[in-house]
Amino acid sequence: MKGKILVTGGTGFIGSHTTVELQNAGYEVVIIDDLSNSNRDVLDGIEHITGKRPVFVEGDCKDINTLHQLFKDNPGIEGIINFAAHKAVGESVQKPIMYYRNNLNILLNLLDLMPVYGVKGFVFSSSCTVYGEPDQNPITEDAPTKKATSPYGATKQMCEDIIADVIKSGSPIKAILLRYFNPIGAHPSAEIGELPNGVPQNLVPYLTQTAIGIRPLLSVFGDDYDTPDGSCIRDFINVVDLAKAHVRALDRMLNDESEDALEVFNIGTGNGLSVLQLIDAFERATGVEVPHKIVGRREGDIEKIWADPKRANEVLGWKAEASVDETMLSAWKWQKRLRERGIM
Ligand code: UD1
Repeated sequence: MKGKILVTGGTGFIGSHTTVELQNAGYEVVIIDDLSNSNRDVLDGIEHITGKRPVFVEGDCKDINTLHQLFKDNPGIEGIINFAAHKAVGESVQKPIMYYRNNLNILLNLLDLMPVYGVKGFVFSSSCTVYGEPDQNPITEDAPTKKATSPYGATKQMCEDIIADVIKSGSPIKAILLRYFNPIGAHPSAEIGELPNGVPQNLVPYLTQTAIGIRPLLSVFGDDYDTPDGSCIRDFINVVDLAKAHVRALDRMLNDESEDALEVFNIGTGNGLSVLQLIDAFERATGVEVPHKIVGRREGDIEKIWADPKRANEVLGWKAEASVDETMLSAWKWQKRLRERGIM
C-alpha cells in the first residue's frame, strides 16, 4: 500500500477519475467535496471500478475548521490533489467575488495546513488558460503567461503564483502544477463521467446531449478563425489519461524524484483538433449523427492552442494514450448510461 492522499473535489469529473487511478495504483484516498457540482453516487461508481470505497467527507474546504477536523480524523495524509474549485468561465465573469473567494481561499487553507499536518506533496489543477492566446503552437511550459480574460482564468494564475511564493518562503512542501488542456471522455466502464449541471457550457457534454436528443442542435461557435476549417483548435485530452498524470506527479514528489520543490507540466496529447474535426470523430466512432450548425464566435474564445507535452513525457514518464475515437466512444457510452439511469 502506498500513502494516503487527500483529493479535494474528488467526486467531480476529474477528481473521480483521479481517485480511481490513485486507488488502482495502491494509494489510499480521502475525498472532501461539498457536492456543489457532483453527487454521492459517484462514490458507488468509484467502488464498482476499483472494489474500494474512498473515505468521504462532505464539507467545504473554505472552512479551515472542517479541514483541521479532516486531518485529525485521517492522520498520515502525505499528499493533496486540489480539484475543489469553481470552473465555469462565463459564470466567473458574472460572479467574480464568488470565484476569487472560493478558488483562492481553498488554496490558502490547504497550503497553510500542509506543514501543520506534515503533508509533503501538492498537485494543483491548473489550466492552459494561463497562456491566453499563444504566439505559437504547440506551446511549452516556458511560454509567457498572459493576462487572464476571465476571473476563472485569473484565479488559476493567482493560485500558481501563490504556490510559488509559498515555496519560495521556505515552506517544507513540494508542488506540481498540472496545466490541463481540454479534458473529455469518461471511464471506459461508464461507471463515472462528467455530469454537467444544467445546460453544458463545454463542447463534449453539449455534443453528447445533442446526439442523444436532449438538445436539438449543437452550435459551433465560429468558422472564420485562422485555422484549416475555420473552427477553433484545442488539445482534447482523455480524462483517464489526465488522471494518470496526477498519480505520476504524486509518485514523483513523494519519492523525491526531483530536487525542485516546484514543477510545472503541460498535460495534453500534443495534437490539435478542431471543433469540426472532433464532431466528425464522434460521428465516425459512434455512427451517430450530431445535428450542428455554425453560429457566431463565442466571446473570449482562444483561436488555437495545443500542448507540447514533451516535458511531461520525458520527466514525468507520462504520455496520453487513448485515441480520439476511443475517447469519443467513452463519452457516448457514459451519455447512454445516464439515460439508462434516468438521469438525463
Ligand atoms: C475553457 C477554458 C479552460 C477551462 C474550460 C473549463 C479558456 C480559454 N479555456 O475551455 O481553461 O478549463 O473552459 O470549462 O478560458 N464550443 C462550441 N460549441 C459549444 C461549446 C463549445 O463550438 O456548444 C467550442 C468553443 O468555442 C471552443 C471549443 O468548443 O472553441 C472548446 O470549448 P469548451 O469545451 O468550452 O472549452 P474551452 O473554452 O477551450
